[in-house]
Amino acid sequence: MSATAKSNCTYKEVGPLFWEPEYTTVWSFPERGNWATHNPKYRGNFAPQVARNIIEMYTDRGDIILDPMVGAGTTLIEAKLLARNALGMDINPEAVELTKAALRFRHHLPSHQEVKVGDARDLSLLDDNSFDLVLTHPPYMNIIKYSGGKIPEDLSNIGSLPKFCSEIEKIAKGLFRVLKPDKYCAILIGDTRKAKHFVPLAFNVMQRFLRVGFVLKEDIIKVQHHCKSTERWRWKAKRDKFYLIMHEHLFVFRKPKLGEELSRVKWSRGS
Ligand SMILES: C[S@@+](CC[C@H](N)C(=O)[O-])C[C@H]1O[C@@H](n2cnc3c(N)ncnc32)[C@H](O)[C@@H]1O
Repeated sequence: MSATAKSNCTYKEVGPLFWEPEYTTVWSFPERGNWATHNPKYRGNFAPQVARNIIEMYTDRGDIILDPMVGAGTTLIEAKLLARNALGMDINPEAVELTKAALRFRHHLPSHQEVKVGDARDLSLLDDNSFDLVLTHPPYMNIIKYSGGKIPEDLSNIGSLPKFCSEIEKIAKGLFRVLKPDKYCAILIGDTRKAKHFVPLAFNVMQRFLRVGFVLKEDIIKVQHHCKSTERWRWKAKRDKFYLIMHEHLFVFRKPKLGEELSRVKWSRGS
């Protein structure tokens, strides 16, 4: 929290009272940040601490961030609090309205955030090399059906891993094009289980990002808390000899510089 915050803001309005950035690859936030206008009710949103850590690590004031699957706006709220410009998109107009409402607060540092309805697979209206950071959080296939099947372009309608991954690759391609060289793209993604076996969704998604040209900077394990279904699944898991999945992957990719020599990061390129 900046000591220069104007007196018409309380700490809760402008940011966390205590803040210590993460410095390892395991992140755990038992208490979801509840400052400013963050909305704990949007199912499947990420904790504000995820957005704050990534934005602070990879951007400076005045930079521009893209979140093409913005949900209830966690990335954009944090962007505003940290004086970064941002563009948010979501296929669901209800999510866009929620984000717009969440951005209706005053902040003493100037910045601009915009949010609109759009398909993350089509970034054709955005310029090449124009964003300093991408931070986003796709559906985990159809674990949560965000639009309840009502919006055909909603990726959370897709229950097939190959189909989901090929749509994700379209998104990855667009993100690679619009990100500036040597800048970062962070994706939070989890796994699932089918027929009592683990479905490695996150690693499949990672491969698609590598395939379009990104290199892997980090694989951060984010511990999951407050999962709605934990108690319901607990006894079934014991009976059927599997463990409940309680972590997600926060992959941080980097777009290489033009002509960059990449042989030293070959393990980060899926080779
Ligand atoms: C996991 S949620 C994002 C939550 C967000 N990080 C937050 O904290 O509120 C995934 C979002 O992706 C959106 N979505 C699904 N398919 C999409 C598509 N094709 N283009 C853009 N957004 C899409 C859903 O509507 C949903 O809001």
